[in-house]
Amino acid sequence: MAVNLLLGLQWGDEGKGKIVDVLTKNYDIIARFQGGPNAGHTLIFDGNKHVLHTIPSGIFHENTKNVVGNGVVIDPVIFKKELENLDQHDVNYTDKLLISRKAHIILPTHRLLDAASETSKGKAKIGSTLKGIGPTYMDKTGRNGIRVGDLELDNWKEKYNALTAKHIKMLDFFDVQIEYNLEELEAEFCEGIDKLKTLEFIDSEEYLNNAIKEKKTILAEGAQGSLLDIDFGTYPYVTSSNTTAAGACTGLGIAPNRIGDVFGIFKAYTTRVGSGPFPTELFDEDGETMGRVGHEFGATTGRPRRCGWLDLVALKYAIQVNGVTQLMMMKADVLSGFSKIKVCTSYNYKGEEIAHLPYNIEPVNVSVNYTEFKGWKADLTKMTSKEELPENLMQYIEFIEKETGVPVKIVSVGPDRKQTILR
Ligand code: IMP
Repeated sequence: MAVNLLLGLQWGDEGKGKIVDVLTKNYDIIARFQGGPNAGHTLIFDGNKHVLHTIPSGIFHENTKNVVGNGVVIDPVIFKKELENLDQHDVNYTDKLLISRKAHIILPTHRLLDAASETSKGKAKIGSTLKGIGPTYMDKTGRNGIRVGDLELDNWKEKYNALTAKHIKMLDFFDVQIEYNLEELEAEFCEGIDKLKTLEFIDSEEYLNNAIKEKKTILAEGAQGSLLDIDFGTYPYVTSSNTTAAGACTGLGIAPNRIGDVFGIFKAYTTRVGSGPFPTELFDEDGETMGRVGHEFGATTGRPRRCGWLDLVALKYAIQVNGVTQLMMMKADVLSGFSKIKVCTSYNYKGEEIAHLPYNIEPVNVSVNYTEFKGWKADLTKMTSKEELPENLMQYIEFIEKETGVPVKIVSVGPDRKQTILR
């Protein structure tokens, strides 16, 4: 049985959590493959809103196993809070939540290093969520990291102390002062570790490959978006993991020839939170309207998201890198009421009109060309079938399908599980 992938095609916040939740009934296992508490996956159903950071979005379904894969980085402090939120809603997770022994642990000092690095960059800062993601992946690739499996060994505290001592020295290299109380940070960290240890640790690559042999259905859940990928994103304004399809293979131990469908999630427009180039960004009333109507504030940091029109040049790039087989359009309802809808179909780059994503998309190098569509007035949020969708929206969708060569299978018209139209 093939493993299907679900990933974001823009700069994150596309609505992956909602779609995983909608699709979970079709799967035995949901497996997160990269990122960590920098993610904020929002799920709304039965009048409740849940924001998950590290826990896979299948956790609310009775019979689904949820695997935190080896490619994920876990902050025990935030993880504990997530679990406590589930406790409050009487969600039973003990038998359903499995943690890879090879997942890396975010230490309190990783967060301090993140803060020091960002502050010292000044105007050139990445706009990180400051959750310690970059420093933890640096320790992973530098072969210094502490993994979940280490918690089962006798000497993990020695490893922890050695790495923390090194980080404290590293903090001195930055020309900025970061205030911290290590004792307090370590106290909450230890409580987080104790909670983490109540869960089942597994050799997740073994578990998942056995599940494939047993013909179980698996959905791999990505975090962030393709344009934040460490290799293919708008470097250096990216996150520190591979958010694209290849990251699912390395982040779960699943071979490429086991991958089946790749579901690409995108918003009907574009948003970005943090620094970095964004060719279709709007600084006018339209951008302001998208932000207001779309409630565009980061689920993890609360920061306002930058808004702009859909960028088909970037979307096609993401579709190519990921091998997307089905598209899912989110937040179509937010565009209701615009008299014109624009979509970027090419860039002007070094005096030429191009339709591919060049090496550098900073505003000095790139300007955009738009194709315009007529808007629609109808409120989509109560619609339940594709037949109800306005003609002008259908033209917009069909144009995207024609340009990308990939069908749009789901149109989301609101944050609730039920506000999902299948095509
Ligand atoms: P970091 O991964 O926290 O270091 O952040 C690096 C960049 O990725 C910053 O621009 C963040 O705003 C962005 N980022 C990280 N995680 C997310 C996410 O889940 N959604 C949207 N942007 C994110």
